[in-house]
Amino acid sequence: MPKPHGGKLIDRTTKKQIDTKNLQTIEINTNQAEDILNIAHGVFSPLEGFQNRDDLENIIIHKRLTDDTPWTIPILLDADEKQLNNIKEDDTILLTNKEIGVKATLDIEEIYTYDKKTIAQAIYKTLDKNHPGVNNIYNMKPKLIGGKITLLETKPRKFDEYNLTPQETRILFKEKNWREIVAFQTRNPPHIGHEYVQKTALTFVDGLFINPIIGKKKTGDFKDEVILKAYETLIKHYYLKNRAVMSILRTSMKYAGPREAIHHAIMRKNFGCTHFIVGRDHAGVGNYYGPYDAHEIFEEFPDIGITPIFFRSFSRCTKCNAVVNDKICPHDQKYHINFSGKKIREILRNGETPPEDMMRKEVAETILQFKEPFVK
Ligand code: ADX
Repeated sequence: MPKPHGGKLIDRTTKKQIDTKNLQTIEINTNQAEDILNIAHGVFSPLEGFQNRDDLENIIIHKRLTDDTPWTIPILLDADEKQLNNIKEDDTILLTNKEIGVKATLDIEEIYTYDKKTIAQAIYKTLDKNHPGVNNIYNMKPKLIGGKITLLETKPRKFDEYNLTPQETRILFKEKNWREIVAFQTRNPPHIGHEYVQKTALTFVDGLFINPIIGKKKTGDFKDEVILKAYETLIKHYYLKNRAVMSILRTSMKYAGPREAIHHAIMRKNFGCTHFIVGRDHAGVGNYYGPYDAHEIFEEFPDIGITPIFFRSFSRCTKCNAVVNDKICPHDQKYHINFSGKKIREILRNGETPPEDMMRKEVAETILQFKEPFVK
């Protein structure tokens, strides 16, 4: 099993009673609260808190922390003047979020200003506000707060039964005697192309870690419970029980393409995975990135500590009568049927079952059992 990113698994939780009565409080949004949970439980190891200016600048320019550890997506806490009233550097403050019941302290190291366009251009390679990640940056508050957090409280939530921390997955993989584990990132229910990349990768290792991202979604995306139930069905009917584990990852999709692929790989290394699947247009949106930009970026990170497994786009070739990609099939594109997420969604939206060479019948039926499988 690989060492956690940066050398050790971060644990910023405490069971100690900490007197927070006299602390200034900032009410944070749910995304920020999710970041706190991921820092505290080591998903973002080696981060111990929200990033300071030096790290932010280094990430923008070099895609690394100041100590040279690979890191491509900044983890930032934004705030406005009103929230920062009476709060200054070196203070310890309380961060709370009512929606998911998070309470954490923050030892403020730095309060600083930043340039949104610089971040957008570096991380997303565009200034277009139609890009959902860029739009989020433009909506951020004007100041950033850097410093270490300590998680004091959190409360039980929906899907907790699917939620394993890196500490727990590392124990589980050991119990299963898995030495090599390939992680699969997703934000969709599985189509045949997804199944194909997973099983091809699994052929070479001991276990498969299916790790869907669960959280706030765009209108028209599949609901979280639909993704989870669809995967349970696929695993039940088509996977060996002792070869696949599914657990969720609560974080927002950034749609940052290549930079996010690196970030995704780092998180899975922290869960204890040795390999990471990167397919076509990984974490992409619209036409902002080339279909294999997320493969090429790994050349900049020979020291990342998790092995990427790259896949060219799989489709069904009607001549081969098999699932193929452009490395293995000699036939013209006109014989290829793509596993188009958009098309599958359209068919399901009409209450129909997609063709079985696009999606497993049992998976489609599971999705169709939901009255409304899509986010409104
Ligand atoms: S993503 O935003 O999480 O990347 P999605 O859930 O669709 O979206 O994809 C999960 C993983 O499967 C990604 O690595 C993606 O590149 C890969 N993938 C999806 N469809 C295909 C396909 N037809 N061929 C090869 N890889 C694919």
